[in-house]
Amino acid sequence: MDDLAKEIPGSTTSRPASAVNVLVGVTGSVAALKLPLLVSGLLQIPGVEVQVVTTERAKHFYSIQDIPVPIYSDDDEWKMWNRRSDPVLHIELRRWADLMILAPLDANTLGKISSGICDNLVTCIVRAWDLKKPLLFCPAMNTAMWDHPITAEQIERLCNFGYIEIACIEKTLMCGDKGYGAMAEVSTILEKLSSQEDRDLRYPVTLPPPPAAGRPHITAPATPLSPHIVIHSPPRASM
Ligand SMILES: Cc1cc2nc3c(=O)[nH]c(=O)nc-3n(C[C@H](O)[C@H](O)[C@H](O)COP(=O)(O)O)c2cc1C
Repeated sequence: MDDLAKEIPGSTTSRPASAVNVLVGVTGSVAALKLPLLVSGLLQIPGVEVQVVTTERAKHFYSIQDIPVPIYSDDDEWKMWNRRSDPVLHIELRRWADLMILAPLDANTLGKISSGICDNLVTCIVRAWDLKKPLLFCPAMNTAMWDHPITAEQIERLCNFGYIEIACIEKTLMCGDKGYGAMAEVSTILEKLSSQEDRDLRYPVTLPPPPAAGRPHITAPATPLSPHIVIHSPPRASM
């Protein structure tokens, strides 16, 4: 978003009382091809405002002109800050967002956020995320990556933070392999998000205490924000 890069997110428009701000984080999976579909679907949900944050690799899979909302990337973060009084983009965006959805979440960024690495705009927002707000994630990777035991460990870690998994599906992937790892259908993602939007996301909720270490991978969200969400995780190699 070259020209808009100097703006503070949400500063140019007054926010309607009922608006829910949805931040879409997109990473370098081939499923990022579906970003235009996801964004246009989100914009059809009443009261939803959308902004996108992207990794550099994700940019390879969509055309910026197909995305009718602001898109921010690492360049914007660094161009926006020149002196002490300047806003820090990842903090402004985590403040702006009522809900974040990582779609697709690739294996690389999954690994980073599950271990606290924050070396780009997307991972900095997740690292600074307010755990009282919902964060949903849609894993998307090759079946061989999916089947590696580290995937289940990392997803369990995210679920233990209270993040909500929208499970990947089984199909013949772009590379020809058949199996789990494909991102959930956009219609499924929109359904989950619509049910989140039924509640007033602008009011913080109390999360349950973190589970004890070593607990098995959860397939349903741990947060009381999401009783409508029924999430079915496919089998994983380690389970
Ligand atoms: C054509 C192509 C498709 C890819 N698809 C995926 C994918 O679906 N899932 C995944 O985890 N990685 C995929 N990758 C690898 C990631 O793009 C790579 O790990 C990259 O470093 C991710 O960077 P990011 O997490 O910063 O976006 C793909 C790479 C290429 C070249």
